[in-house]
Amino acid sequence: GPLLSTEFIGREIVYLDTVDSTNEEIKRRADRSREGLVVISEEQSVGKGRLGRNWTSRKGAGIYMSILLKPDIYPQDAPKITQVAAAAVVKGLKESGVDAKIKWPNDIILKEKKVAGILTEMTGELMRVEYITLGIGINVNNGIEDFPEEIANKASSLKLEEKKEFERKKIASAVLNNFEKLYSDFLERGSISVSIEICKANSILLGKEVRVISRKSEMLRKAVDINEDGELVVEDGDGNRESVFSGEVSIRGI
Ligand code: BTN
Repeated sequence: GPLLSTEFIGREIVYLDTVDSTNEEIKRRADRSREGLVVISEEQSVGKGRLGRNWTSRKGAGIYMSILLKPDIYPQDAPKITQVAAAAVVKGLKESGVDAKIKWPNDIILKEKKVAGILTEMTGELMRVEYITLGIGINVNNGIEDFPEEIANKASSLKLEEKKEFERKKIASAVLNNFEKLYSDFLERGSISVSIEICKANSILLGKEVRVISRKSEMLRKAVDINEDGELVVEDGDGNRESVFSGEVSIRGI
């Protein structure tokens, strides 16, 4: 049967040979498109990662795709979408035979190297989300030439780690199928609890000592939970807990 079994995510799919960034293409189409529009490109000339980084996007190697979402939520709830997406990517990879893990908030890890990432961007005003651009990048059949020396110990591809080629179409479909289920569940319940369970079960941070890095300071904490808002809960040596919001810090496992 068909690989994609969704009702609204990917009902319309735009396939491109090349584009600056699939996230930017979603934004150009957002006003005249429905929720669930998916843009997939064979390559990106300006693939974007979080925190202004770039995302390696060589032709035919990875999956570069973005989804247009129009949920009726508050801006502060937008990070929840990242957790829903992380859960969907990990589930989709597991169904493709890849035992990936999540490094909160948005890194997908295989054998201690990053193989996929999520870039959630919000458009709207202070009190209102107009739409969300959910970008998913998965390093599928990339070779060592795609990972320069500076990142070779941190980033990799499914092919390099599993030593075989993967069908990008199957993986992309599996991710979209899982995303629609988890996202619908979030909209219906108003809670991301199902996605959070998946994120927690596959987290590489929970139970570990982590470095919480913000612009101002660096603290050593123990990662103990991911809460219903999709925030990481950390604990200091005295057992005091606080939650870390994905927008303001980055976390490095030790
Ligand atoms: C990260 O881990 O820093 C996020 C990486 C997100 C990459 C994807 S590829 C498809 C979409 N278009 C982009 O320009 N970025 C995202």
